[in-house]
Amino acid sequence: MPRQFFVGGNFKMNGNIDTIKSIVSHLNDAKCDSNTEVVIAPPALYLLLTREHLRSGIEVAAQNVFDKPNGAFTGEISVAQLKDSNITWTLLGHSERRVILQESDSFVAQKTKAALDGGIGVILCCGETLEQREAGKTIEVVTAQLGAVAKEIKDWSKVVIAYEPIWAIGTGKVASTEQAQEVHASIREWLGKEVSGDAKEATRIIYGGSVSEKNCRELAKEKDIDGFLVGGASLKPAFVDIINARQ
Ligand code: G3H
Repeated sequence: MPRQFFVGGNFKMNGNIDTIKSIVSHLNDAKCDSNTEVVIAPPALYLLLTREHLRSGIEVAAQNVFDKPNGAFTGEISVAQLKDSNITWTLLGHSERRVILQESDSFVAQKTKAALDGGIGVILCCGETLEQREAGKTIEVVTAQLGAVAKEIKDWSKVVIAYEPIWAIGTGKVASTEQAQEVHASIREWLGKEVSGDAKEATRIIYGGSVSEKNCRELAKEKDIDGFLVGGASLKPAFVDIINARQ
């Protein structure tokens, strides 16, 4: 079965009530490819507002979730709270959290397990620094990040893997189609070897890092690129062009 194209919009720590309402209203009115699964991730404060105003058929993701059940964890949000609020996905392991907040591979893996166990889908981010790429360590780094998750979970059917080279995030320096395809193909091989033949065939592997309405069509032609995780451009009307990249 072909993998459904998947486009996520990560607003990061951007937006306010007015701008988020306006992005949502633009998406509600837009003609989006019905073959594309679309999920947007506003800051936590605006998750409910987004869910309330967004049309059905487009899902909402948190940008993070904690690995423990409700309790004394100041500043965190639980999987149960997301579920209660009809937030059906979460991003995990974004490089901005791995680097700035020092999240380890194993912490990301524990959170992935908690989210999946609680019935929330996970957009699992991985990717290398420029230094690691130049040292020829891209695949090693990415598979170590994914390997930590493979120790915790068996079922990858609710996981979308987002390959996001750190040097391409917010820099305007998109990976070439060849660079992205090469890593995606290696991740797919890794899934086949370390998880299962089914996971290899069915898991969506999406690309993130300076995706725009200008470069998305070329990237979308690659056989192992199943969609995008979009940062900056998800705040703009051009996001719809990215959703429609395969049309
Ligand atoms: O989560 C999204 C990525 O960090 C990509 O961000 O499209 O602004 O480069 P960007």
